[in-house]
Amino acid sequence: MPVIVLVGAQWGDEGKGKATDLLGDRLDYVVKFNGGNNAGHTVVIKGEKYALHLLPSGILTPGVTPVIGNGVVVDLAVLFQEIDGLEARGIDTSRLRISANAHVIASYNRTLDKVSERYLGARRIGTTGRGIGPTYADKMNRLGVRIQDLFDESILRQKVEAALSFKNQVLSKIYNRQAVKVEEVVAELLSYVERLRPYVGDTALELSQALDAGKVVLCEAGQATLLDVDHGTYPFVTSSNATAGGACTGAGIPPTRIDRVVAVLKAFTSRVGEGPFPTELHDKFGDYLREVGHEYGTTTGRPRRIGWLDLVIGRYAQRINGVTDFALTKLDNYDGLDEIPVCVAYEVNGVRHDEMPVNQTDFHHATPIFETLPGWKQDISGCRSFDDLPKDAQRFVEFVEQRLGARISIVGVGPGREAVIERHSVLGGA
Ligand code: GDP
Ligand code: IMO
Ligand code: MG
Repeated sequence: MPVIVLVGAQWGDEGKGKATDLLGDRLDYVVKFNGGNNAGHTVVIKGEKYALHLLPSGILTPGVTPVIGNGVVVDLAVLFQEIDGLEARGIDTSRLRISANAHVIASYNRTLDKVSERYLGARRIGTTGRGIGPTYADKMNRLGVRIQDLFDESILRQKVEAALSFKNQVLSKIYNRQAVKVEEVVAELLSYVERLRPYVGDTALELSQALDAGKVVLCEAGQATLLDVDHGTYPFVTSSNATAGGACTGAGIPPTRIDRVVAVLKAFTSRVGEGPFPTELHDKFGDYLREVGHEYGTTTGRPRRIGWLDLVIGRYAQRINGVTDFALTKLDNYDGLDEIPVCVAYEVNGVRHDEMPVNQTDFHHATPIFETLPGWKQDISGCRSFDDLPKDAQRFVEFVEQRLGARISIVGVGPGREAVIERHSVLGGA
């Protein structure tokens, strides 16, 4: 029966993939409900590293059925590259299900993503260049191509024609690019049809039936709260709903069926791409955390921008997502520090803000108010229970928990699947 929604609390890369993997053997289904291959989840199992982009992290757990929900945008070339890569490493991907209503990232939308970023210049978003924004724009404009359209060649051709009649004008007249030929796009998409067929179905119906049969479903967000198109730092966001509500629309699971919401919160903050970032560090501490935390994008390889933990954001994530449990990750990355500043509020033009400022300009000008906690200067990567942690690390977790307004149920102390402390079961109970 239970549905758990798992989201990122900050600007992504909090360790959602590892958290999903950790819960894997207690789950029957893992559903990706938003985004596409802009996501990058690194999961480390027995020292082996897996980088997932489009496939839900649950694919690594035998017995779990991974689902690509209707809210996802699918790059078919990437899908099959990922499937082939995992199969070559002995991972069984045959249970994968893909919603017939998910949208397809066509080649012209990858092109438009890249050229529009170049055109924006200093005002660019810093996208991953994977065609995410233009594909969701097509969906909203009712010019998108869905997975199910690939199974009806004449419908597919009509849809591609409709999209290109507009887009070719934009490509050639604004961006000075060659027009794209309808037949080339259609032929490329049709080349995937037979391989795609066995995976495709009515995933909302399948999930509903699974829940009726008492199965456990986890809905895994790509991106994170502050990259959500409604609740994030717009326009420096992705183009989908990465917050808990997105699970309902993006997986077809009604809100009344959701039991728990787990938010993954990194013990410091990172951001890739442009946009405001109040606790950002431009000093040796930022460089230090980037290096000890290997904070380079899984998708684009870009160095991530780094900042101290921001609890205004943590509380915001709790409120917007209705978080029942936090997973606090990468606590071990603080092992070498004497003291750890944590942002508890902002000051904007002499006024204290305990909540996220409603006005984006204020957020751009927010100066963090810090409380500084003592570090523990000790390797915690071998700790497996809360009591194993040094007292100052315990105090840090308790301090953060008090200000978040929801319990911290999981603490990450290293990249591996085993490097965690589970304080409470996120499936409910103590
Ligand atoms: P996601 O996009 O939220 O799934 O996160 P990413 O995979 O992009 O980035 C998180 C990185 O942190 C990955 O390389 C994980 O292996 C690593 N990681 C996750 N949890 C921990 C932790 O508790 N400690 C350490 N040291 N690394 C972690
Ligand atoms: P995971 O799931 C971090 C960022 C991009 C850019 C903005 C818009 O690994 O946490 P897009 O290509 O989505 O139109 O880019 O969003 N972004 C991410 N940052 N982690 C991610 O995913 C991201 N997915 C998109 O860097 O700033
Ligand atoms: Mg990531």
